Amino acid sequence: MEHFPAIQSVIRAALTGDRDALDKQILRLRDRLEKAGQVKEAATIDRLRASAQEAHDLAPSRVEVSRAQIVGEVLAQGINPPIDKETGAKLCSIDFPASSNESPVYGDAVRETIEELLKEWSSIAALKSVGVEPTRSLLIYGPPGSGKTLTAHHIAARLGLPLITARIDGLISSFLGTTARNIANLFDFANRYACVLLLDEFDALAKLRDDPQEIGEIKRVVNTLLQNLDLRRGHGITIAITNHDRLLDPAVWRRFETQIQIGEPAGQAREFLISRFLRPIEAPTGTLRVFSYCLAGRSGSDIERVCTAVKRTIAVSGAARDGPALFHALSIVLGRTPHHDHLPARILATDQEAFVSLIANDSAFPMKQTEIGEATGYGQSRVSDLKKTKRHLGLMEGAHA
Ligand SMILES: Nc1ncnc2c1ncn2[C@@H]1O[C@H](COP(=O)(O)OP(=O)(O)OP(=O)(O)O)[C@@H](O)[C@H]1O
Ligand SMILES: [Mg+2]
Repeated sequence: MEHFPAIQSVIRAALTGDRDALDKQILRLRDRLEKAGQVKEAATIDRLRASAQEAHDLAPSRVEVSRAQIVGEVLAQGINPPIDKETGAKLCSIDFPASSNESPVYGDAVRETIEELLKEWSSIAALKSVGVEPTRSLLIYGPPGSGKTLTAHHIAARLGLPLITARIDGLISSFLGTTARNIANLFDFANRYACVLLLDEFDALAKLRDDPQEIGEIKRVVNTLLQNLDLRRGHGITIAITNHDRLLDPAVWRRFETQIQIGEPAGQAREFLISRFLRPIEAPTGTLRVFSYCLAGRSGSDIERVCTAVKRTIAVSGAARDGPALFHALSIVLGRTPHHDHLPARILATDQEAFVSLIANDSAFPMKQTEIGEATGYGQSRVSDLKKTKRHLGLMEGAHA
């Protein structure tokens, strides 16, 4: 048995319970299989690792929060949110987020920052011993659809706290003068209960600042916000979200102890999201690579939309749910939305064979001709022929014209 030494190392690591060593040995075995040409077996290991990761993400552990640190009454279901006295509109919504299979997927840096932050809330005694408190305020920024709101829900779920969400545009009343009162009422409400306060769509403030007629009002609003943010420090946790990082007033920006930028998913995170959004269709590794190559630079919610459309296309056409069918469906879906900034997506939207020629010629694309053949349904020898045609070049030149 050729790979027995590698299997033995996996077993040894598993028995000692050393998770990092186990991961390392599994990857070693996978690489050996791949080198020996056992591509399918290597792909099976990739799939097993991906679903183990998914299972881990599906059941994020709840952080043991010391109740004494989050002061306030219990916010029970059925308690009414405060309202705008003029219009009767609700100033916030109240959610009781539960950890679900929708937990966000990030690159390493963002994941570590969020895990560290959650860890602080279960290490309060250790923090106290050096005279500090856990982080209570967090600003999340990044492009639309990158999972910012999802992240706030996830954090509240992990902390086991209800989430009070205020949309800043909802708070800014059309009645001059009542905005400041709305903000004060909202903070009073949030400070009364043990909760996470989420100030979503923070950009509304910046937009208002561009309106010369609103100068006096915006100053008042910003001042009230700053005062309330300062007062809130002794109470619960506050998360603010914005799409534009530097549009915010620097004084507001400084109020937040930690800032997290969430961007478009890259690398493993992107493949992982694609495999999640394609479920229940189990996409082979090669297919995930092709999808990921075409969807580079897209937000998480864009990727979700494309994968949903691909599933619809496959279901309606009655095609087999395999790699080539997914490839074909992706080409159709991209073709329906023809204006792509990203060249691979544009080429696949126009001409599948040109796309095969593109990836076969791209030395940065991590797949051999056999694998490309399997993922696209063209077969190795056709891929080899298409590679020689370099027919993608015509489309690339067309793009520059
Ligand atoms: N990083 C991610 N992990 C998992 N799912 C994601 C991620 N990013 C986006 N999504 C998917 O996209 C949906 C929209 O994400 P969300 O509403 O959190 O984006 P957002 O950054 O708040 O966008 P906006 O700025 O438009 O409010 C999520 O419900 C989820 O299905
Ligand atoms: Mg949002």
